Amino acid sequence: MKIVKDPRKVNSIIKEVKLKGKSIGFVPTMGALHEGHLSLIRQAHKENDFTVVSIFVNPMQFGPKEDLKKYPRLIQNDLMLCKKDNVDLVFLPDSKNLYPPEFGTFVKVKGLSDCLCAKSRPMHFQGVTTVITKLFNIVCPDVAYFGQKDAQQAIIIKRLSEDLNFPVKISMLETVRAKDGLALSSRNAYLSKSQRQDALVLSQALKLAKKMIDRGETVSKKIISSMRRLIQQNKSAKIDYVEIVDFNNLRPVKKISGKCLIVLAVWIGKIRLIDNIIVGTVLKHG
Ligand code: PAJ
Repeated sequence: MKIVKDPRKVNSIIKEVKLKGKSIGFVPTMGALHEGHLSLIRQAHKENDFTVVSIFVNPMQFGPKEDLKKYPRLIQNDLMLCKKDNVDLVFLPDSKNLYPPEFGTFVKVKGLSDCLCAKSRPMHFQGVTTVITKLFNIVCPDVAYFGQKDAQQAIIIKRLSEDLNFPVKISMLETVRAKDGLALSSRNAYLSKSQRQDALVLSQALKLAKKMIDRGETVSKKIISSMRRLIQQNKSAKIDYVEIVDFNNLRPVKKISGKCLIVLAVWIGKIRLIDNIIVGTVLKHG
């Protein structure tokens, strides 16, 4: 497994790999790897000849009051996990290299980057799309893998790739959860034992929504208020948003029909967690 810091070196290795006719699968991450990341890495390995993982805690996507400094950094363990899962190249850029002092270009996807998580993290997605644009140009992947856990991010990156004609397929894979339903996240490491328990309200609220829909409920307002009520029963949980939106354009829907996302962000103490499920894809008969 190659470990490379210099973007130009990555670019030249990729060129050689491509000359041999090999396909490149790419998994961008911020490290502190867990089973969610590893599911993307394993799929990339399965579907491609050469797997690249980037590990970079991207300062541009953190707000001034957010957790950039304390974001978990576990590089030795991450490298060990990458090696175990057959990664061919780990790209470990540093900030100075990716963002030299004269850096001045930003990429923003309009519309999709202004709703849901953007309301409390206004610059976040611009930071994500800017770094992803750079990473795609450096790694030139055939397929790039993202988690449904961050569905808004994956949908924005799909739009970005189509709008800017990146010759890459964006693949979104299912959320990996702990046995009790909590979606795996590097930020779960911040949770105390009791907060870890409180954090279950997110997946419980989504389960409740799914149950209501399975019983025939289609009115978003009713589903959302039941979810809000369930979350509010937990005194440590503070709702940022609970919404039901169209999967393609992220606009709120009044009634569930076609592919929709039920999305929520909830504060557990000072830790903001997100989760979502996709609904409305299976047509009922009879
Ligand atoms: P990070 O939070 O490290 O996540 C990297 C990838 O892993 C993302 O595509 C994310 O959706 C996916 N992921 C995280 N938890 C998951 C889970 N429980 N199940 C499945 N996939 C999961 O997202 C980022 O980094 C950054 O914003 C990045 C795209 C790297 C740009 O800096």
